Amino acid sequence: MAFKSEANRWGIGARTLHWIMAVLIIGLGLVGLYMSDLPNSPQKIKIYALHKSIGLTVLALLLLRLAWRMADRRPDELPMPRWQALTARAVHGLLYLLMLALPLSGWLYNSASGYPLQWFSLFNLPSLTGGADAALKGLAHDVHEYGFFVLVLALLAHAGAALKHHFIDRDDTLVRMLPLLRRRPPAPLSRATVMTATETPAPLDHTPAAPSPEIAKP
Ligand code: HEM
Ligand code: HEM
Repeated sequence: MAFKSEANRWGIGARTLHWIMAVLIIGLGLVGLYMSDLPNSPQKIKIYALHKSIGLTVLALLLLRLAWRMADRRPDELPMPRWQALTARAVHGLLYLLMLALPLSGWLYNSASGYPLQWFSLFNLPSLTGGADAALKGLAHDVHEYGFFVLVLALLAHAGAALKHHFIDRDDTLVRMLPLLRRRPPAPLSRATVMTATETPAPLDHTPAAPSPEIAKP
């Protein structure tokens, strides 16, 4: 299996980054919603620290993914109405934007709250605000919270479209992004198609052809 994408398949690089990031982002959203309502405790602090470290990992993976996307090719677009292709491109753009805005707003919120930031207790990251800032704190929190709800809507459209391509259009859109599934075998040709492709057309009139002079010779 190729590491780089081909005309009809996403490569291992693009597929691995897509699914690792999808799992991390959905997990971060669920943990984020759960953790903010917890009562204060050492456990809550640990969960917050984990959420922030994994969120920063998503930011680093996004930079890697964007660099990889520039170096890699895109598989050819499958046949679909133009409005669908344009909508898919717009939703992909929105997903990239949110993958950047969510970790950055989390980092900004943390900085504007005046808290230090560490990556898995291994090293410190700088503050984006240089100290507490109440106005920026509110703004960053809104972007982080509402941005996530926009992500959920974009994701419903994105995953819904992928499932529609798979189960209704029965094309390769989802399969060529999945890690393990093989491509669909080509659909069997209908009898009409086979006949059109292989049979010589019948003569239009029924007049017997004149015998060739060569054959008519004794
Ligand atoms: C793709 C990455 C991320 C996603 C999807 C995500 C998602 C979320 C969600 C859904 C919430 C709950 C929002 C609410 O209801 O208040 C949340 C809260 C939070 N997130 Fe993230 N987050 C991400 C990255 C980060 C990063 C990188 C940081 C910090 C460096 C961070 C810091 C926080 C903090 C401090 C809260 C708690 C806010 C509060 O207490 O009200 N997040 N996150
Ligand atoms: C947080 C979760 C997800 C994010 C952020 C995300 C993001 C993206 C992005 C940005 C692309 C465009 C890749 C490019 O052109 O560079 C893409 C492609 C794709 N995604 Fe997702 N995705 C997520 C989850 C899912 C899920 C759950 C499914 C399936 C149910 C899915 C199916 C696909 C497929 C099939 C493609 C390829 C589309 C094509 O060939 O044009 N994604 N995804």
